[in-house]
Amino acid sequence: MSSVYNFYAGPAVIFDEVLRRAEEEFFDFAGTGMSVLEISHRAKAFDRVMIEAETNMKELMGLGDDYRVLFLQGGASTQFSMIPMNFLKNGRADYILTGSWSKKALAEAKKIGDTSVAFDGGDGNFSRIPKQEELMFSADPVYVHMTTNNTIFGTEFNYIPDTPAPLIADMSSDILSKPLDFQRFALIYAGAQKNLGPAGVTAVVIRRSFLETADQNVPATMLKYATHAEKNSLYNTPPVFSVYLLNLVLRHLKDLGGLPAIAEVNQRKAGYIYDAIDGSDGFYRGHAQKDSRSLMNITFTMANEESEKKFVAEGEQEGFIGLKGHRSVGGLRASVYNAMPEEGAKALADFMKEFMRKNG
Ligand SMILES: Cc1ncc(COP(=O)(O)O)c(C=O)c1O
Repeated sequence: MSSVYNFYAGPAVIFDEVLRRAEEEFFDFAGTGMSVLEISHRAKAFDRVMIEAETNMKELMGLGDDYRVLFLQGGASTQFSMIPMNFLKNGRADYILTGSWSKKALAEAKKIGDTSVAFDGGDGNFSRIPKQEELMFSADPVYVHMTTNNTIFGTEFNYIPDTPAPLIADMSSDILSKPLDFQRFALIYAGAQKNLGPAGVTAVVIRRSFLETADQNVPATMLKYATHAEKNSLYNTPPVFSVYLLNLVLRHLKDLGGLPAIAEVNQRKAGYIYDAIDGSDGFYRGHAQKDSRSLMNITFTMANEESEKKFVAEGEQEGFIGLKGHRSVGGLRASVYNAMPEEGAKALADFMKEFMRKNG
């Protein structure tokens, strides 16, 4: 068991059960006598992992044969470029800006083609999610891009927008954290290092009919989705260990009862910490507006930097790691991804109350 509670934003906490399983199998993967780190990606034993990971992912998301799941490299950041390269062509794409990552996605799309901003939350330092009626789409966009959860600012969509074009979502920091109608999305992508386990692999879930509309003339073979779809993510050497570990995470999520069960625990976990903020009479101040709060990344500040430093230092001594906020928001951030145990979130809330009692 871990001796600390890990609140890092990513790479982040991974289920103990998964780490233990990987440890048990480390020197002998699937009876091969080799470590999964040593095995050819063309070996049958690994092929089974790839197929199982795609199946598990779709099962958890309630998606059928009309979707593919690809396991790619280059992080979510490479998706910022691949999406417009494959789908922007001669049209215009609409971007909903709810934080730094959606801005970065837009910046890459601008290099490729015509874009429009459907909403820009920058004025309020990205402290809220727009309502449906605030989204101003262009006349005939080819796709709409959104970020479902804003890791840095701690805001999260609690609805799926209606859009005039296929919807593409960066779900890096909230994928598989709650049930969603995933069929509403044409393409979903997520760097795995927050809610899916290891760094080094990016999951891309794509509707087959949308994939068929991709530009066939993308000049780089590796940056074409079709390349990876046709070869079941084995066009070139995949990040074998990361995909293996991700699949162990998916298996574990299924064992826990799938997304409805996970969402219930996630609600309680975030609830403990938000209650500590709301009950503190301003000692802790949440960054996100209440109706825009993230279940995954809880951002808050204190009266001054000195108090925040003390909070982080004393927290570390008690075993609460990774609470320093991102530099663009400052303050504090507790990331409570799927793998954060409920008792960890509860213990942090208790620590917050105790810290306030001593210092308030
Ligand atoms: C919402 C979101 N999108 C994209 C990224 C960038 O991911 P990567 O480092 O895998 O490129 C992050 C990383 O923190 C993120 O939180």
